[in-house]
Amino acid sequence: MTTAVEACRVAAGRFIVLEGIDGSGTTTQGHALVAALERAGVAARFTHEPSAGPLGRLLRQFLKGDEQDPSPNWDGLALLFAADRLDHLSREVLPALAAGIAVVCDRYDLSSVAYQSATAPAGESVAPWIRAINQRARRPDLTIVLNVDAAVAERRRLQRGEPAELFEHRELQRRLAELYASAEQLVPGDRIIHLNADAEVSDVTDSVLQAVAQGVGR
Ligand code: TYD
Repeated sequence: MTTAVEACRVAAGRFIVLEGIDGSGTTTQGHALVAALERAGVAARFTHEPSAGPLGRLLRQFLKGDEQDPSPNWDGLALLFAADRLDHLSREVLPALAAGIAVVCDRYDLSSVAYQSATAPAGESVAPWIRAINQRARRPDLTIVLNVDAAVAERRRLQRGEPAELFEHRELQRRLAELYASAEQLVPGDRIIHLNADAEVSDVTDSVLQAVAQGVGR
């Protein structure tokens, strides 16, 4: 309990990002974190990328897949994700942070470095370019990476019963799990905490609160 209270106290006005492969639980844990903060009387907002704005909605169409209107290549997508991010920051994230509200974001530019690198042509080192096009994006105060076995995440996705999105394929997700395991190299200098997200939802939420208490320093 002390940890939960401590987590809520330090989170006020901070920007906390949740990351991981598809099915790692970033959405569930993001909502759980915001609920815990609000229960403790800390103003908090859940948000996500792709955002709910116009560029985010366009990205979601591409992610769903439409044979009539196929998705741009990895580099076009990287630019769209970066543009959506800056739009999301200016519309939603930065005003909330400035008002002292804790912002919990389901995915951020670590997703761009991981997913767009993993889908670039083999042998090309594209991470520096992806970081460069995201250079104007405010750094998170803390990124929590939910590490989960790719097979566990796949089972969770299948249980949802929704059609597979653009990146939801076994081999790619395995490769992404490897990239997330070395997230520090993808976004050097960022404060990152890895959690084992194979556990029960409530146990992972406890770990998330502990990570916030430890990781969000003033
Ligand atoms: P996801 O969190 O899976 O959305 P939902 O739970 O609503 O399906 O995010 C959508 C997908 O977009 C996911 O496969 C990761 C991918 N993505 C990128 O490739 N690059 C990015 O920069 C972001 C933010 C997401």
